[in-house]
Amino acid sequence: MKRVKIRRLSAMGSVLVMLVPLALHAAEPEDIIKYRQNMMKAIGGHTGAAGAIIQGKVDYKNQLADHARALQALTSDIPALFPKDSDFGDTKAKDDVWSKRAEFEKTAKDAKARVAAFAKAVQGGNQQAIVASYKEMGEGCKGCHKDFRKKDD
Ligand code: HEC
Repeated sequence: MKRVKIRRLSAMGSVLVMLVPLALHAAEPEDIIKYRQNMMKAIGGHTGAAGAIIQGKVDYKNQLADHARALQALTSDIPALFPKDSDFGDTKAKDDVWSKRAEFEKTAKDAKARVAAFAKAVQGGNQQAIVASYKEMGEGCKGCHKDFRKKDD
């Protein structure tokens, strides 16, 4: 009994030790880059999953609203994923993300509006509107990638 308790306490202790650096240090650029790439992967995952449902490739219509909601949450502040000093290293973000910041933020805002329109169409349930807004949303992703993401080598 006593042993178990001690183990639990020490497990809690190591969790605390892991959390402390969060409070003390600014995040490392490579961790920010990895984080935003994971966020973009999640955005890509939900977009792909939603597309498969919309095209009728899979029968998960009841989950379409979940993907739309997730996309809204994940794209709510894209510029925040690109803070200063996260512009070097293993990133495909072009320098323009930082040097043409106003344009980048405008593009992000536009994409966010497209995601919101898609989510609204999903709520409305009209298939034609869903298809159209899904396409528009995709154009929003592509528009930013064209201007602000380096091409695959
Ligand atoms: C405002 C700009 C912007 C918008 C809008 C945007 N992206 Fe991105 N995305 C980027 C940039 C820049 C990168 C490269 C990030 C890096 O490598 O640090 C990226 C990377 C990605 C990646 C690759 C992640 C990886 O490293 O494996 C995927 C997938 C992706 N985006 C999907 C999407 C989808 C889907 C949408 C639309 C729903 C979207 N993005 C909207 C700018 C944007």
